[in-house]
Amino acid sequence: MGRKLLRIALLGCGTVGGGVYEFVRDRQDMVISYVLSRRPRPELSCKVVSDFSVILSDPEVDVVVEAIGGMDPAYEYVRSALEAGKHVITANKLLIAAHYRELVELADKHHVTLRCSAAVGGGIPWLANLERTLEQEPITRISGIMNGTTNYILDRMHCSDAAFEEALLEAQHLGYAEADPSSDLNGGDIRRKLVISANIAFGCVLREEDIAVFGIESLRAEDIQACKKLGRVCKMIASARNLDGCVAAYIEPAFMNSQLHEAAVPLNFNLISLTGEHIGKQSFYGQGAGRYPTAYNVLQDCVDVRNGLQGFYTNKLEDRPVDNSSVVRPYYVRTERVDEWLQKRVVKILDCGVILKPVSVTEMHAWAKEHPCFFASLRD
Ligand code: HSE
Repeated sequence: MGRKLLRIALLGCGTVGGGVYEFVRDRQDMVISYVLSRRPRPELSCKVVSDFSVILSDPEVDVVVEAIGGMDPAYEYVRSALEAGKHVITANKLLIAAHYRELVELADKHHVTLRCSAAVGGGIPWLANLERTLEQEPITRISGIMNGTTNYILDRMHCSDAAFEEALLEAQHLGYAEADPSSDLNGGDIRRKLVISANIAFGCVLREEDIAVFGIESLRAEDIQACKKLGRVCKMIASARNLDGCVAAYIEPAFMNSQLHEAAVPLNFNLISLTGEHIGKQSFYGQGAGRYPTAYNVLQDCVDVRNGLQGFYTNKLEDRPVDNSSVVRPYYVRTERVDEWLQKRVVKILDCGVILKPVSVTEMHAWAKEHPCFFASLRD
């Protein structure tokens, strides 16, 4: 029996939307009925409209694919599409992380599907596999590299001694970075991805602002040299653990033991892992940013909708606090503001920084807020 043709309204036809348009054009089971664009797009072979209400009121549109990015007007469009009974697929991590509960509840109320597989991990089948794992067993932990831009910068600085600014420009030219790359560099982009991942994995709702984050804006070439001298590789790592009554969740640079899989992740690639109660650690690897990898995940969501998949990845929405006080690690710190707290914890002095004895993530991040520095945890 043939399946019904899936009729898609594509909001935005830029980097990711353009990739989606190309992929759908080559398929027989789905079609782009509309592209929403502010400017005329004579090169597109579908209806191009600038008024979203045309899409909303067309009963033939099955699914709205939001590829505009940002909060406004994407939030309004997504909300009204769900309320109008249309399935929604989005790559918009800002939107999903900020309005998680409301959008999941809205999709549930209107019996439609909400998917955002491209919001985390670019082209990696990560969120869909969280959902599949949960069918079988609880997930206790998630962790890994969730940002292509920062991984690209760190890899270029490690392997080719590239300067930070040069590597960032390359990442921007390759289409990996956000429109405002400061959210890549300060870890804000990763924090949104971690919120979405942890919420799905642990069936909870975390507040984005509760998650501790330290980025690579203050990273210098000398930190990479120190890391190399220790025989390690610097990576941006996101971690979340499901604990009793709370979740430990934080993002920070880490000097990884060179034997760990994360240490070998090149360029714009991501490596994200889950730990299941019985299956142990499973890792998912692939390009974490870029036009076609991201469009691929949007397409996978379209296929899932066409196949009749219902709802969101989970319908569990338990509010949970974040508490990182039980997670303890040794840290590398470079600062000109040495104080008593730091001095008391130093176990080794390096050329340009120090190694601290294990301290809690809560303490380390709180200290760094008050002291200009670069820090990274040491992970084995
Ligand atoms: N700026 C993001 C990154 C894009 O570099 O990972 C993909 O989410």
